[in-house]
Amino acid sequence: MIPTGFRTSCVPPLALAWTFRRRPGLLACLLLCAALLLGVRAEAGQDTAVQGTAGQGAAVPALQIVAFGDLRGELLPCGCSPEGQLGGLPRRETYWNGLLKRIPSGGDPPVLVDLGNNFPAPSAQGALKLDAIQGFLGKMPVAAILPGPNELQMGFAALAPGLPYTVTNNDVPGAFAPSQSVVRNGQRVLVLGYLSPSLVYQGSQDRFRLVPLDLALLSRYESLARQAPQRTLLLFRGDDRELDIFARSGLFAAIVAGNPSGDELTAVSERRAGGAAIPQVPTKGMGAVVLTLGAAPFARVDQLTDKFPDGPEALAALKIYDGRVKALFFEQLAGREARAQDSPYSGAAACQDCHAPEYAIWQASSHPQALRGLDKVGKQFDPECLECHVAGFNRAGFVSAGSTPHLAGVQCESCHGPGRAHVADSVTAKMAAVGTGTSQPGEATCRTCHRGAHSPTFAFSAYWPRILHGARTAGR
Ligand code: HEC
Ligand code: HEC
Ligand code: HEC
Ligand code: HEC
Repeated sequence: MIPTGFRTSCVPPLALAWTFRRRPGLLACLLLCAALLLGVRAEAGQDTAVQGTAGQGAAVPALQIVAFGDLRGELLPCGCSPEGQLGGLPRRETYWNGLLKRIPSGGDPPVLVDLGNNFPAPSAQGALKLDAIQGFLGKMPVAAILPGPNELQMGFAALAPGLPYTVTNNDVPGAFAPSQSVVRNGQRVLVLGYLSPSLVYQGSQDRFRLVPLDLALLSRYESLARQAPQRTLLLFRGDDRELDIFARSGLFAAIVAGNPSGDELTAVSERRAGGAAIPQVPTKGMGAVVLTLGAAPFARVDQLTDKFPDGPEALAALKIYDGRVKALFFEQLAGREARAQDSPYSGAAACQDCHAPEYAIWQASSHPQALRGLDKVGKQFDPECLECHVAGFNRAGFVSAGSTPHLAGVQCESCHGPGRAHVADSVTAKMAAVGTGTSQPGEATCRTCHRGAHSPTFAFSAYWPRILHGARTAGR
């Protein structure tokens, strides 16, 4: 069951019609002026294929577009909870191959595009993900990738040169392709990209320069769009005002936006601009936007559930990634060991004598088994997983299963804070609960781990009674 909080689920077919005939607001007025200046025939929206009336009479054949993006480093669902386990590159492989199989013989494949923001936050482990992500994209017939802030913060050198990174609003020649073009069913399809400069820190050393949306830039899009009338697609990442301008420009057969949210439980897969519904790719690579343009245009979101088995090629690539992560774990072992020399952690056994009832409850729960859960899926060396499955990882606590077995799993100290001082002097040394700013753990403590897709059904009122202990527990 998908919890109701999951708003990324199915979007009804979108009516992608522009509504230029609506009472124009101030912005619309400005834009119509802009459009007039530019000679864009926006007034009746006749230039836009999404409206479904474009090329009436001259029957525009259906064109299918499949858009991914916002992977945000999530190579594979973590497996923490049966609910909300969506996405992952191996399923994407199977999903795409399934789409290809459904194409009638002689037909062209869909246009595959990517909204970027696929890279994780910068870290040693994040760097290992770049290879896996870009290697995967390199094997797919991706027509264009709009790099996102996540890509650009890694530095230009991190972008694999073979991939079709595309930004139309960039002023440094050669940095990115300004457009990509593919032929589908005998017709040229043009893909343009807009990445708002407001989303990217640009230094003077950067090898690219993103320019903001103004009339001059809009005319750049217009002259490119002329190369593929009714078949120009815009990959967009920016704010509502910018999206509105593009949506009202009438230049594009369709616009697909990147997802501004990194919270999979609240992210939405549709946004309104210029009177139209603009689809947004599901965040964390959890699904695809599929657009069909032509006589009866529609958009839908397909979620990558376990209905799509893991594809073998991507899975093999992730095995290589896992191997590198394990190597990283051991490279960093000495550093962790040094930092844990004077560890503030004790482990639950040190609490048992004085807090026997609490200990018994803890031991009967699944918290002490949390590292074993990782063992079962071969992720016991993955720092990103250890963060929540052991005590004090990278914080002078857990070093490795071999040298700190007493800190494996979720410990008393994962919630109550490091306790060695309290063990030594239980009367005066108070513990500092995790995540609360007080000495008493509470819901905020749980949510440091029970969050997002790691625990989508978490509710303090339902979970706490299952591990209820301590004196002041009534009513909590
Ligand atoms: C943000 C904290 C967090 C991170 C990071 C995390 N987990 Fe979890 N994991 C949890 C929580 C919380 C649960 C329990 C979920 C529940 O029951 O609601 C869990 C449960 C699990 C379970 C189920 C255990 C069982 O026996 O049923 C597995 C397997 C698991 N996680 C694997 C992973 C892997 C693999 C990773 C890294 C890719 C990972 N986790 C990263 C918090 C996390
Ligand atoms: C030598 C006995 C002893 C040991 C060992 C011990 N405690 Fe305590 N603990 C106490 C006493 C005594 C109190 C104070 C009880 C009171 O004030 O009513 C206490 C209080 C607490 C409290 C209440 C909040 C606070 O800080 O006052 C928590 C939580 C707690 N202990 C957790 C732990 C944990 C976790 C461990 C193991 C890391 C541990 N204790 C080890 C004796 C011990
Ligand atoms: C998953 C988080 C978590 C774990 C693990 C955990 N506790 Fe607690 N503990 C809590 C919460 C929440 C409370 C309730 C605090 C309150 O009532 O304000 C609590 C209460 C307590 C209290 C009573 C504090 C008081 O002032 O009344 C003691 C003592 C205690 N825990 C000891 C332990 C010991 C010992 C362990 C390990 C054997 C342990 N806890 C494991 C979250 C945890
Ligand atoms: C340090 C991370 C962390 C914190 C903090 C944490 N948990 Fe957990 N919790 C986990 C993990 C990981 C699991 C899964 C363990 C396993 O099965 O391997 C889990 C499992 C559980 C389960 C069992 C779920 C099931 O279906 O078996 C309950 C209940 C639970 N946690 C309650 C809480 C409560 C209540 C709090 C806060 C007072 C809390 N947890 C704080 C990481 C954490």
